[in-house]
Formats: sequence, C-alpha cells, structure tokens
Amino acid sequence: MPGYVLLLNGPSLNRLGERDPAVYGTETLAEIVERVRRLLAPHDIDLVDKQSNHEGVLMDILQQYGPTARGIIINPGAFAHYSYALRDCLEDVGARRPVIEVHLSNVYRREPFRHHSVLAPVVTGQITGLGSRGYELAAQAVISLIQEGTA
Ligand code: DQA
Repeated sequence: MPGYVLLLNGPSLNRLGERDPAVYGTETLAEIVERVRRLLAPHDIDLVDKQSNHEGVLMDILQQYGPTARGIIINPGAFAHYSYALRDCLEDVGARRPVIEVHLSNVYRREPFRHHSVLAPVVTGQITGLGSRGYELAAQAVISLIQEGTA
C-alpha cells in the first residue's frame, strides 16, 4: 500500500502544547505527527505533514500534495467554520480519496460559531472532541478506507 497521507493543520495548531492546554491538551504538534507517522509506517504509507496559519498557503499545500495523496487528514482550525475557499479546494482535491476532518476539542460543546463546519459536506468523516487521539483514529480510518477501496 505505498504512497503517502497528507496531514494538514491550520491556524494556531503550531501552538499545541502551549495553547489553552485545558482545551487542546499538552502534547505538541510534533509529538502528534510522530505518532501518526508511526501508525502509517507498517502499512508502507509515508506522511507528508504541513501546518500553516494562512488560508492561501493551506490551499497551495492541498493543491500540491492532495491530488496524489492516498488520503487527507485535516484540522482546519477556525477555518472550518467559515472558509468557503478551503471548502472548495478540499472538494476539488479530496475527491476519490478519504478525507478526515479532525478537531481536538468537541466543537459542538463550545461557542455556537464552532458548531458549524463548512468543510463537513466535502469530507468523508469528522472526528471531534477526542483530543490528540483523534488524529490516530483518523489515520486508522484512512488506512481501512484505503484497504476497502470505498472512500
Ligand atoms: C479546533 C477547533 C476550532 O474551533 C478552533 O478554532 C481551533 C482548533 C480543534 O482542534 O479543536 O483552532 O480545530
């Protein structure tokens, strides 16, 4: 099952470990990325991991790596709630491959503006509120969806 999964993190996720640990946990993004990488390795899948605070840069990365990725795991941060540009980009490059939207916190238990994701209609599935293990669950989901060939 060679190839790679794209793991994309949006604004302020580079601050994990420091940023509001009560909500986002104490692990750093580098630690989370390493765990995801180790999960994919036995399946012969590489990880391309990127983070940006900028909407256009996230789109550039999606356009560069998305079309040839086996799957995409994305935590869009606050862009989930209002970025139609990112939504359209994901709809384009995410077609025909599993795309999992991850949120560390349970966005439905927080402020009302977080209750809606404009990306949700163009992703395969969403994992929210399970902390950093959400990324691992997303990787497992991508692996099994690739194996099934159903995504
Ligand atoms: C987040 C939830 C978003 O509402 C917030 O803007 C983030 C992080 C999460 O992982 O829980 O930056 O995506």
